[in-house]
Amino acid sequence: MIDSHSSTHQDWLVVGQGAIGLLTACQLQQQGSSVRLWLRQPASLTVHFRALDGSSRHHRFEPWPASQPIQIAFIPVKAYDALSCIQQLQPLLAEDACLILSHNGLGTLETIQPLLKPKQHLWFLTTTHGAYIEPGNQAGRQLVHSGAGNSVLGAIQAGSDPRPSFAKALNLAIGPLLSVTDIKPYLWQKLLLNCLINPMTALHQVHNGELAKPHFTSELTQLLDEFCLLAERAGYPQDKAAAWQQLQQVITQTASNRSSMLQDRLAGRQTELEFITGFVLREAQRFDLLLPGHAQLYQLCQDAGF
Ligand code: PAF
Repeated sequence: MIDSHSSTHQDWLVVGQGAIGLLTACQLQQQGSSVRLWLRQPASLTVHFRALDGSSRHHRFEPWPASQPIQIAFIPVKAYDALSCIQQLQPLLAEDACLILSHNGLGTLETIQPLLKPKQHLWFLTTTHGAYIEPGNQAGRQLVHSGAGNSVLGAIQAGSDPRPSFAKALNLAIGPLLSVTDIKPYLWQKLLLNCLINPMTALHQVHNGELAKPHFTSELTQLLDEFCLLAERAGYPQDKAAAWQQLQQVITQTASNRSSMLQDRLAGRQTELEFITGFVLREAQRFDLLLPGHAQLYQLCQDAGF
């Protein structure tokens, strides 16, 4: 874990106005960092923030100034927006900028990495903190930090500093933060949860907790078996019993939540299916593996229009 006692003052850019991005932005600002937002339409934004202990406070964020080079950018945008987002930021990125991606699914890094200059470094953060934006008429955003979690940070390029200077600030904002030299095994563990929970809940339009019901057990078991087969071939072997236990734990802990894919479906937004089940199936093809459970689930999701 990162030492949480010293504070740092850095110029952060946080991209978008999703719950995890705004949570991080508020917490970074609270501990003294300068934070600006990158929104589709550059504008200032007020966030009414309710912390875990029920206390409230207000944060105001200005857009990134058009001429200032970007040194550290936290980019918690959907997987399908990650590439175009980096392309938009590119003209302003400092020669040695640090970019921290955070999204569900895999398959974005391969297209983003070739765009970066030799000293621009890419990181990935995965988090279990819960946050949501309350619908409301008040100007600005009503952000609720709904569940304490932890985060894991890892560099994508070999040879990156294993304890970058910005990790301290992230630890205070969205920690406890574990810095790891290889983030990929963590991303595959998250992929496992996402490729079982997200398409199933989105297809059947149920809260996460419904998946604990016995009529979902055989399908979830098949999906897990197939995933483990693939993960083994891809070099990220999973302990099946432990994975099943973790799945049940997440289903129970998030029982009353709608998965991100169900939320996207209900809101008529694009989903991350291509980067979750789509990625799994593309990887399976690479290893000449047939994953009939995932293939059928993918087809049903497509037929349902998401
Ligand atoms: O995408 C989501 O909704 C979440 O990552 C998870 C863990 C599946 C819980 O809902």
